[in-house]
Amino acid sequence: LREHEEFTKVKNIATIELGRYEIETWYFSPFPPEYNDSVKLYFCEFCLNFMKRKEQLQRHMHVLRLISAFDHMLYSVELILKNWFINGMQSCGHFGFGISLANLKVLVLCLVAKNYGVEMNAFGGVEIEMVQSNASLLDECARISFLFDLQQRKCDLKHPPGDEIYRNGTLSMFEVDGKKNKVYGQNLCYLAKLFLDHKTLYYDVDLFLFYVLCECDDRGCHMVGYFSKEKHSEESYNLACILTLPPYQRKGYGKFLIAFSYELSKKEGKVGTPERPLSDLGLLSYRGYWTRVLLDILKKHKGNISIKELSDMTAIKAEDILTTLQSLELIQYRKGQHVICADPKVLDRHLKAAGCGGLEVDVSKLIWTPYK
Ligand code: ACO
Ligand code: ZN
Repeated sequence: LREHEEFTKVKNIATIELGRYEIETWYFSPFPPEYNDSVKLYFCEFCLNFMKRKEQLQRHMHVLRLISAFDHMLYSVELILKNWFINGMQSCGHFGFGISLANLKVLVLCLVAKNYGVEMNAFGGVEIEMVQSNASLLDECARISFLFDLQQRKCDLKHPPGDEIYRNGTLSMFEVDGKKNKVYGQNLCYLAKLFLDHKTLYYDVDLFLFYVLCECDDRGCHMVGYFSKEKHSEESYNLACILTLPPYQRKGYGKFLIAFSYELSKKEGKVGTPERPLSDLGLLSYRGYWTRVLLDILKKHKGNISIKELSDMTAIKAEDILTTLQSLELIQYRKGQHVICADPKVLDRHLKAAGCGGLEVDVSKLIWTPYK
């Protein structure tokens, strides 16, 4: 595959920051006009709000507010936190003397935080990052809010808003209703458009459900990709847009998302197909998925099998089965009918070429009822 940049229109935003990644964008996305003079945007990885300046994001994530509270804290520390501080100093001998004021500020905060069982990282002495949040610390901060000014904190999310419908190890899938979480849905569309070329952006997120795949750790659930799905599709679309964020691509998440969309269709008792047009990467991923699923069945199956039967078993639309098998030259046209001709050796060859199935969807871990 060629460079994506070649196909790029006039790109507005060149890079985004999302969680611990800085990501180069691929395509234009119609952000509101006030963002058009920015080359970089800062996304909150949980609510997907985007900002023009890093400080805004930090404030949004509480971090900066804590930093700006240092001055007050140094003043008040003697009054309120004296004991903790002194005990802390004694047990951290290496911080001893010759410590800069900036470092002292960070130290004070780290010690306070530690007292509440919250871990904090100090970077270069001045910037801090809250590694994990802790309810009692936040409560205490709110109580002594003249120190921390935490009362107007803006983001409490640690995962996408919505229901967790699947969990397997560290992998979770959240279902977000665009009607209940309009801003989130819109933010996700702005973000996704940066990596999707020929998709129109739907402002009408009410009509969609978003399935957001996350890798979870003790800091929260970090989005790796998603797909959207119309609540009601006339054309039997079971997926509108699919995206794996670039840092997570080529690791099997795309295959997982595709497989997941078909598992939902199976639960609905419907066949499904992705909305057209497909991108090059989308087509590659779908072709790979269809090939593997269909050939696996053909390999195990004894005797004849029809396209209809394959469709019933897999929820893959008959047309997609036909084009897949045709492209693999497994279809012959006899007496006005398409007949599947599956020579085991040919199947094996194709299966090898199609590679592995990626991350498996364990259906027993999917807790979901279709949208009504
Ligand atoms: N070069 C060549 N083949 C690729 C590439 C690539 N850069 N990326 C994916 N593929 C093919 C491979 O066959 C791969 O299987 P393999 O790794 O076993 O060879 C297969 O696609 C799927 O790989 P995954 O790792 O499961 O997929 P990934 O997580 O990278 O996601 C996706 C695939 C979603 C298409 C991703 O490339 C993406 O987000 N692209 C940008 C957005 C996009 O184009 N979305 C589809 C639009 S169409 C629609 O939305 C209906
Ligand atoms: Zn947020």
